[in-house]
Amino acid sequence: MKYEELIKLAEEASKNAYVPYSKFPVGACILTENDKIFTGCNFENASYGLTICAERNAVGSAIAAGERKIKAIAIFSPNMQNCTPCGACRQVLSEFQSDNGLDVITLCSDGIRVHTINELLPEGFVL
Ligand code: THU
Repeated sequence: MKYEELIKLAEEASKNAYVPYSKFPVGACILTENDKIFTGCNFENASYGLTICAERNAVGSAIAAGERKIKAIAIFSPNMQNCTPCGACRQVLSEFQSDNGLDVITLCSDGIRVHTINELLPEGFVL
């Protein structure tokens, strides 16, 4: 699966975002070590703090399907270029990175940008 295709699927997922409060849709698409694909979108709540980000929604689907090792995640928002994961999602993604790491893929005006989760979250908390 090419990273461009993961971004396309993240874009598709962003169309299902439930964002009546922020009006900021986000979609995410995960590629696991078993080459399975899982998407997610953000969904908000009248009790604002209960909002779930697109990234953690996608991680939840992967975990529920029995996957544990994530190779890559693409993130897309129609409202922002280079929409990188929030701190909470970085910590969650860090826990499920594959043995070869986890690439975080975003879209910029000049094309696709790739960072490793360890670049985005140096010295994340590990038990
Ligand atoms: N959000 C995500 O889903 N992922 C990100 O990487 C950043 C923020 C959501 C949370 C909220 O629904 C909206 O974007 C605005 O913060």
